[in-house]
Amino acid sequence: MSNDEHSAPYNGPEKAAAAETPKRIRTHHLQRFKNDGQKFSMLTAYDAMMANVFDEAGIEVLLVGDSAANVMQGSSSTLSITVNELLVYAKSVVNGVSRSLVVADLPFGSYQVSPEQAVGTAVRFMKEAGVHAVKMEAHAATVPHVKAVVEAGIPVMAHIGFTPQSEHQLGGFRVQGRGEHAKKVIDDALALESAGAFCVLVEMIPAELTADLEAALQVPTIGIGAGDAATGQVLVWQDMLGLNNGRLPRFVKQYADLRGTITDAVQSFRRDVIDGKFPGQEHSFRAE
Ligand code: KIV
Repeated sequence: MSNDEHSAPYNGPEKAAAAETPKRIRTHHLQRFKNDGQKFSMLTAYDAMMANVFDEAGIEVLLVGDSAANVMQGSSSTLSITVNELLVYAKSVVNGVSRSLVVADLPFGSYQVSPEQAVGTAVRFMKEAGVHAVKMEAHAATVPHVKAVVEAGIPVMAHIGFTPQSEHQLGGFRVQGRGEHAKKVIDDALALESAGAFCVLVEMIPAELTADLEAALQVPTIGIGAGDAATGQVLVWQDMLGLNNGRLPRFVKQYADLRGTITDAVQSFRRDVIDGKFPGQEHSFRAE
């Protein structure tokens, strides 16, 4: 690997690993993390500024999730978002990063019809948004679709377990892979790995099953509501930073209260405007 692929430390506590720190995260680095027993982090992102904050904070992977339907557009499910809408968010995120690997979801209905349709949609995300990989909610029947996209030269993250685009078929937001259903999750994951997926994202499955998957698969797993055995962990940023005032799933840990911070700030602004304290002299222009 060229020197260009490695950089100086990007933050304090990780100094020891600095020599190993890639300048730009690529899919093979995620594999190396797994091989070295090192964990990595992934957050959703939908706009350039937040993406830039997360990139500079060292988040290894940014996901332009179809959760944009929920958190950016206020929908109650992810099914409604279109390719054209998600492409705008994806392009914005790509514009905001210099280091993170950017992965975009393929929206519901844009890849399930045929392997050809999947390749066509994935190509649009690579060409028009400039993302580095795509994510597809997948199972046994869509293995050929994943294979076709990989064969077109596009890295695929396969998403199994609870797959929100199938929420109506799955009977709502429910933990998957319990008891006798565990085998199907493992079989699906192995088939998707054989199809060329560079990693497998597992959502809302028992922690023990994630441990079994990490052991069974060569490629890394990324967990959300799937316990601590996965190589990577992902959360929706509005949940983990406390912007979302809805009911949070059990698997979310809230690291900040952005809603409280923003509310305090905008109320201060409003009070200053009403009291005539803003703008001050220092915020005003003079004729001379
Ligand atoms: O769209 C999304 O944000 C996702 C995560 C929940 C993994 O798929």
